[in-house]
Amino acid sequence: MQIVSSMREMSSMSDELRKGGRTIVLVPTMGYFHEGHLSLMREGRRRGDVLVVSLFVNPTQFGEGEDYRIYPRDFSRDKGLIEGIGVDILFVPTTEEMYPEGYQTFVEVERTTKPMEGQFRPIHFRGVTTVVAKLFNIVNPHMAIFGEKDFQQLVVIRRMVEDLNMGVEIIGMPIVRERDGLAMSSRNAYLTSEQRKVALSLNRSLQKASQLVHSGERNPGRIIDAVTRVIESEGDITIEYVDVRDGKTLEGIEIIEGEAVIALAAKVGEVRLIDNVIFREE
Ligand code: PAJ
Repeated sequence: MQIVSSMREMSSMSDELRKGGRTIVLVPTMGYFHEGHLSLMREGRRRGDVLVVSLFVNPTQFGEGEDYRIYPRDFSRDKGLIEGIGVDILFVPTTEEMYPEGYQTFVEVERTTKPMEGQFRPIHFRGVTTVVAKLFNIVNPHMAIFGEKDFQQLVVIRRMVEDLNMGVEIIGMPIVRERDGLAMSSRNAYLTSEQRKVALSLNRSLQKASQLVHSGERNPGRIIDAVTRVIESEGDITIEYVDVRDGKTLEGIEIIEGEAVIALAAKVGEVRLIDNVIFREE
């Protein structure tokens, strides 16, 4: 595995690989790896000739008062975790090179960024789309892989790639969970063992939603009520939103059909967690 931090070096390696006819897959991350990240990398290994993983805690996607400064960072732990995966290039750009003085250009996707996460993190997706566009320009991958854990992010990135003719194939991968059902997240490291127990109600509430849909419930309002009740039966947890939307466009829906997502965010103490479940009609 080569570790590259210079943007210019990354780009010229990528040019050479492309000239040699190799297929480049990029997995963008902010590090502090867990099985969710590793599942994306394994898929990338399978799909391409050259697997590039980027590791960059992107300041522009964190709002004021969010956890940018304390976001977990441990480079040697991360390097160890991906040892057996077959990552060819670990791209670790510096903040100074990504956002030098005078930086002033941002990519904004309009409609799909407004509901759900957008209501609570108004500048978040502008930072995500900007950094992902920059990574695509630097690495120039044929394919990029993202997790459905951040379902809205995946939809927003697909929209950006289509709208800006970026020519990168976007692959979405299912949520990886802990044995007890908690969706894996670098932010789970913030939870005390008490809080972790409380956080399990998120997955439980989504399982309840799945049961309801599978037994024929198609009304989003009733699903949202049931999910809310399960979470509110726990003590120290505050729901930010529970929403049911079209899985392709994130538009609101009156009836669950085709592809739909039930997504939620909640705070356990100061720790903000998100989770979702997707329904795809055969
Ligand atoms: P990060 O939170 O590090 O996540 C990197 C990728 O791993 C994202 O595509 C995310 O959806 C995926 N992922 C996280 N937890 C997962 C889980 N439990 N199961 C499956 N996939 C999971 O998302 C970001 O970083 C950033 O916003 C980024 C896209 C890198 C831009 O800065």
